[in-house]
Amino acid sequence: MERAAYELVTLKGGAHSIRSVEHGETMHIGSGPGQEALELHIRQQRLAERAGEWQGSDPFVIWDIGLGPAGNAITAIEELGTIGTRVEIHSFEIDTAVLEFALRHSKELGYLDGWEGVIGQLLAEGVAFPRPNIQWRLHRGDFSRQTHAAPAPSVIFFDPYSPARNAEMWNLETFSSLWSAVSAPDAPPCTMTNYTRSTSVRVTMLLAGWFVGTGVPTGDKDVTTILSNRLHLLEKPLDQSWLSRVRSSTNASPLRGRNYERGPISPQDYARLKDRPQFA
Ligand SMILES: C[S@@+](CC[C@H](N)C(=O)[O-])C[C@H]1O[C@@H](n2cnc3c(N)ncnc32)[C@H](O)[C@@H]1O
Repeated sequence: MERAAYELVTLKGGAHSIRSVEHGETMHIGSGPGQEALELHIRQQRLAERAGEWQGSDPFVIWDIGLGPAGNAITAIEELGTIGTRVEIHSFEIDTAVLEFALRHSKELGYLDGWEGVIGQLLAEGVAFPRPNIQWRLHRGDFSRQTHAAPAPSVIFFDPYSPARNAEMWNLETFSSLWSAVSAPDAPPCTMTNYTRSTSVRVTMLLAGWFVGTGVPTGDKDVTTILSNRLHLLEKPLDQSWLSRVRSSTNASPLRGRNYERGPISPQDYARLKDRPQFA
């Protein structure tokens, strides 16, 4: 018999979540709006406030990278339910099997309860309208190999699997292509959140062009990472003391290519890192 790709697991406290058997990783969603989605992505990026204040003539744009079972996307939709601003959510996903699995277990998972029709439409048609002011688009395929056909975002939820298991999503090429999406002179102020605290990943993000700071704690993580295309949007940018620790770290070489290999940073990469504007 073929082995199932996903399993329903019971978290401490009784809520259900999904485990990818192939990646050996459990997604941090429980019943109700996911705590991680709220703390790490939505509140930290002041999503409702920024979307509510949005004055642009175009919609306020969110990129949801690694849609998975849609915990972050649904939490964002619920958070934005009462604002009047037009919002576009662009979700990127290589394999929607996990969302289809979640849909079959929407009652146990809780947070999808009531959203089944919207998710069904998103899967079938690639676009859905969860609220009159919110358009939700699905971009299928390998994000790390695409040119991204979506307008420049103000907010990015960056949520692939971990670098050890999903290396192509954390390499210099992927963060550089993300940087091109937000670095045009007319691009809106943008922030991007994710759960990593890895030195080599932060070095990779900085070398790709991003400003990088320490993010809020969530779950069992004491710190995470937040990025921006504007230094002033970061409350705690990585500073000189972080930079001096990079030199002696055994896990600070930027991630290149599609294999996860770590090591100390080379003198050439360290020289480029030191020259990043955020350390001036
Ligand atoms: C941790 S799960 C995402 C959880 C989800 N954000 C949530 O809130 O429920 C990671 C997702 O990233 C997707 N992913 C991994 N590599 C990808 C790639 N190269 N392109 C697009 N999606 C990818 C996986 O298929 C998986 O669904």
